[in-house]
Amino acid sequence: MREKNILVIDDDRIILDSLCEFLSLEGFQTNGAETLKGAMAELEKQSYSLVITDVNLPDGDGLELLNTIKKEHPQTVAIVITGYGTIESAVKAIKQGAYDYLTKPIADDELRLTVERAIKQQSLMSENLSLRLQLEQKYRLENILSQNYEMARMFARVEAVADSTVTILMTGPSGTGKSMLARAIHHRSSRRNKPFVEVSCGALPETLLESELFGHVKGAFTGAVKNKEGKFLAANGGTIFLDEIANASPALQVKLLRILEDRQFEPVGSNKTKTVDTRIITASNRNLAEEVKQGRFREDLYHRINVVTIDLPPLSERVSDVRLLAEHFLRMYCRHHNKVKLGITVEALKYLERYSWPGNIRELENVIERAVLLSEGKYIEPEDLTNPIRKQTEKKIDGPMSLKEAAAEMEESFIRQALEANHWNRQETAEALQINRTTLFKKMKRYGLYTEAERLGLT
Ligand SMILES: Nc1ncnc2c1ncn2[C@@H]1O[C@H](COP(=O)(O)OP(=O)(O)OP(=O)(O)O)[C@@H](O)[C@H]1O
Ligand SMILES: [Mg+2]
Repeated sequence: MREKNILVIDDDRIILDSLCEFLSLEGFQTNGAETLKGAMAELEKQSYSLVITDVNLPDGDGLELLNTIKKEHPQTVAIVITGYGTIESAVKAIKQGAYDYLTKPIADDELRLTVERAIKQQSLMSENLSLRLQLEQKYRLENILSQNYEMARMFARVEAVADSTVTILMTGPSGTGKSMLARAIHHRSSRRNKPFVEVSCGALPETLLESELFGHVKGAFTGAVKNKEGKFLAANGGTIFLDEIANASPALQVKLLRILEDRQFEPVGSNKTKTVDTRIITASNRNLAEEVKQGRFREDLYHRINVVTIDLPPLSERVSDVRLLAEHFLRMYCRHHNKVKLGITVEALKYLERYSWPGNIRELENVIERAVLLSEGKYIEPEDLTNPIRKQTEKKIDGPMSLKEAAAEMEESFIRQALEANHWNRQETAEALQINRTTLFKKMKRYGLYTEAERLGLT
């Protein structure tokens, strides 16, 4: 039995039965309906790959059904059956979104061919849709996890500017999520159905980068054997993400400034000006203000790209995210590699939370993927972690903790206990701890307790 199913609608019982029988023999799961109402009810019950419907039904018009399918079941493909010589209704049906039509009397070969083609089309459609959904899923802001206060502020900022053309500069060390957030912004804007193009300004030598971005005309330089479009045009209507912008050469900086000011540029070797409507997001893991001070980056360009800044803190400054992200990656890679792990042991978590994470979230992601692949037990244990983590942290765990660290750890757990004892009521907790509410609030924020409370709906 194939996994594709077909709904056939015809008020002529004999035709209906013979169609259903034929399609069942072809291996499809087949259901029949004799009326428009019956068909609608059937579509509510389950989703169909294909609907084959007569145009004239006793209680309405098969074309009406096409409308419903288009609106409510976009993954279903429709074929209409028309009477001999009524080509007009077939044309109308196609215009209304039917994939194809069959004329009565229906020959077996024709039916087989038409159905095969329609099913192929349907597979493509549902594949596209699920790919798109997957992408949207991945880049939904909700999937960019954090319970850090700074990050929450950044998310709010992203939310506010996503659907505008404002230029955004993302800063933060490598692996903190700049690229991911750039994509999320694109997917959150009305440009989401247009291209998102990412170019790393550090990956190519100066001249190649220029033609990569702006294109070139044939003969512009040796090796330019034909015209090339360039990424800015490729991203027309969409978003271009220029990573490692600090690496742009002085000449390129001038070109970028112009494109930011009036959206215009000329391809390399051409004097024909082009105009594009491309939203620009840039990123840098170097401090651009410093680059400006050192005279390596144009100040006017800096101000142009720095309209809205999103500064992503290193993972070591959002320790409360380590566990959240580690568990997220654990679920993700278990699914991906078809493994079953119940969690991360308390001991292993301690290691993860104390490590300095020079590679930030990317490093954490790699560490967890590796652990998922290598660990043999049901839980991720310290042995499953990489050497640097164990070495660096063992010192910290076994060696003396600084007084400040120890005090902070005690303070955090003390406050948490008080909050829990007072049902997270801040007034009562503050009274119990004999501090004022503002102080409590500040401490809660410092230890990530405030965002935790928010998450639990306790604020
Ligand atoms: N908050 C987050 N929640 C979930 N996954 C995240 C988060 N931040 C980053 N990641 C994941 O971490 C990895 C690294 O992120 P990303 O590539 O966006 O970093 P980056 O800042 O662009 O790094 P680089 O400067 O090296 O280009 C990616 O796989 C991304 O999906
Ligand atoms: Mg990146």
